[in-house]
Amino acid sequence: MAEGQDEAIRPGHLWLEGKTLVHLREDQQRPTHMPRGPAKRTGPGFLNPAMAPARTRSLMLLADALEHHWLVKPGHDLRALDALCATGVRVRRWRNEIPGEVQPRLRIAANDLDEFALNWLKRSHESFPPRISVDHALEDDRYERPPQGAMENGIFIMQNDARIALMEAAYQWIDLDPFGSPVNFLDAAIQGLARVGFLEVTATDTAALTGSSASSQQRRYGAKGIVDTYAHDDAVRVLLGLVATTAARHDRVIEPVLALFDGHHVRVSVKVVRSKERASKVMDWMGWRIREPEGRYQFVQHPTPEEVERGSGPLWVGPLWNKDIAGRMTEERALRLCSPSDKEIADAKDAGLDWGQDDQEYAQREIRRSVRHIAQAADLMSREHLLLHIDDVPNMAGVPHAPKMDVLFSAIQEVGYSAARIPDIDPFFVSDAPLEIILGCVKSLIEAD
Ligand SMILES: C[S@@+](CC[C@H](N)C(=O)[O-])C[C@H]1O[C@@H](n2cnc3c(N)ncnc32)[C@H](O)[C@@H]1O
Repeated sequence: MAEGQDEAIRPGHLWLEGKTLVHLREDQQRPTHMPRGPAKRTGPGFLNPAMAPARTRSLMLLADALEHHWLVKPGHDLRALDALCATGVRVRRWRNEIPGEVQPRLRIAANDLDEFALNWLKRSHESFPPRISVDHALEDDRYERPPQGAMENGIFIMQNDARIALMEAAYQWIDLDPFGSPVNFLDAAIQGLARVGFLEVTATDTAALTGSSASSQQRRYGAKGIVDTYAHDDAVRVLLGLVATTAARHDRVIEPVLALFDGHHVRVSVKVVRSKERASKVMDWMGWRIREPEGRYQFVQHPTPEEVERGSGPLWVGPLWNKDIAGRMTEERALRLCSPSDKEIADAKDAGLDWGQDDQEYAQREIRRSVRHIAQAADLMSREHLLLHIDDVPNMAGVPHAPKMDVLFSAIQEVGYSAARIPDIDPFFVSDAPLEIILGCVKSLIEAD
């Protein structure tokens, strides 16, 4: 650790994210239990608590890949890189909270340009080592030249420009969580993946993705938006579209596993597979969302100039999630993986954590919230569906107000279709029923009231 840094990184207080103890900077307030939106402060050593749910989902997906063998064969190792790791909360949570049985197969690398943040990571990792000690030697044969860095208790820590770190080895798992837009890192990330890999991308430039900042959207994503009910879904699809077309330029094809608009950021998680043949067909999955009268929409692949006027795109029009993987992301599973036991809380308190019964209840609620609605919506989100905002439905059906969502879902199921709420701060739902059927159910429920 550099001279003078030790003093600078003396922690203000301890915080528990999932089961993992983290140091917070002295000038960072203790997070509230409902952190939302962009961080009020940023800078090295600052932890954005609003990203905790995204980190929880990330470790759930990684655990699932190791346990269900959908990325590497049983018995094989999986190399994961957090290319912009900051103070390393994500990699420390991967090491600490993914089940012990699969930990020996998980090789973790963490990279950031910022020395202060990396020292913070080392300090926290040293003070609060993972429950299971996993020590891998560097896989020398994987690297053209040994990267600069050091193995610290099961995490290989590097200080590089991410674009260089991404090229160091063929990773099977890459996490890209930059400030703002990920566009600068996407090519290197795709090229840095193994033949079959997994890429998670965060974008906080939601104004560009939704089109509320039209010029940035055009420049960064080559897209045009309409800021209406569908702006969140469009933002997810615009980012997926960019990831898909970037992958295709490198002879790869994406298979979305989870893609969400989570308040102040968009996060997409995709499997990336090398296949020239399938990559050549990437444009089959790209199109436009054209607004039709009365709040309706349709996806069109080759819009007319008039349709472009009332459309957003180009964007990804394929499936958004993987049914089986997202279907296993239940609240129970999240709690089992990430909620600390009484013993773990007692140990954390011995280490100086100030944590009461209320804190524990709020933390559990937050862990549940990280995956709320995902498992129930997994089937519909992995195939063709219609997306609706519940508040738009009364107008479309010509009734004074909307029915309760659960009641509406039961009515839709009774006539042979499916419907489910999706995770969004707004009350959106998806269904495979034709719009007329849904509106018919709404009408009969309200008129029978
Ligand atoms: C949003 S933070 C990452 C947060 C982290 N993933 C987490 O979950 O706590 C973005 C990080 O990117 C780093 N960064 C920015 N540009 C970089 C570059 N070109 N190469 C490596 N790191 C970079 C910054 O130092 C910062 O720590």
